[in-house]
Amino acid sequence: MPKVIVNGKEEQAFVEETLLAVGRKHKAHIGYACGGNGLCQTCDVVIDEGSEFLSEPNDVERAWTPERKLKKGHRLACQAKVMKEGTVSLTTRPEKALVIYNKAFGSEASTGNRFSGVAELFAFLGIETIEHVAAMPFVLINAVKRMSDGRLTDQSATDVTEAWSERKDELQDITSKMTFGLSESIKPLLTSLQSLLQTLPSTLSSMFPGGRSTQSSGSTNEQSGGGVKVENLPIELVKKA
Ligand code: FES
Repeated sequence: MPKVIVNGKEEQAFVEETLLAVGRKHKAHIGYACGGNGLCQTCDVVIDEGSEFLSEPNDVERAWTPERKLKKGHRLACQAKVMKEGTVSLTTRPEKALVIYNKAFGSEASTGNRFSGVAELFAFLGIETIEHVAAMPFVLINAVKRMSDGRLTDQSATDVTEAWSERKDELQDITSKMTFGLSESIKPLLTSLQSLLQTLPSTLSSMFPGGRSTQSSGSTNEQSGGGVKVENLPIELVKKA
């Protein structure tokens, strides 16, 4: 029986089974936003070993993936099939993103990796986005071609809906983890900004002692010289006459 090692975990596979089917069957960390119809590229994987046991890249994969990326081992897991006995080892895109994210904001962030992790994360997301957008025209042409020859049907819409509802909880979990990580990491910056804003009024009034002054009158004040309404400003902003 062929074997597929997904993100370091060995799984059993059948001949002619797609890499996506193997990943999903074993609940591996793999994307499939379009439900396996070759329309989203979230199932992109990098083959680390055993590409000779896989099917040749088809027209759907070629529309998404330029030759340069194919040579680096990128494949669409929903299209690439295991064709013979052997071991295929691969890394999924979400797994790669998670490793970089952990370096920037997660468990490895305290080991001095944070700066390079953040830079790597932005570079990864930026390159991914650019490549994704650049491939769109080819993917659209390919999708029209597949619609006209009957390979892409309205079943794809159902597949997309099912794929999203299947992963809803996981997506929510990832989003909340990522938001928490981000807010935690920018906390020191927010705290310094807050103290800077708190001291700004007194700094300004000491710099411009002869400047315009306003009378404190609750939450709404009017500047004595300009008639400009100053609403709900902190009391420190109001210089007593
Ligand atoms: S699952 Fe969408 S392209 Fe493979």
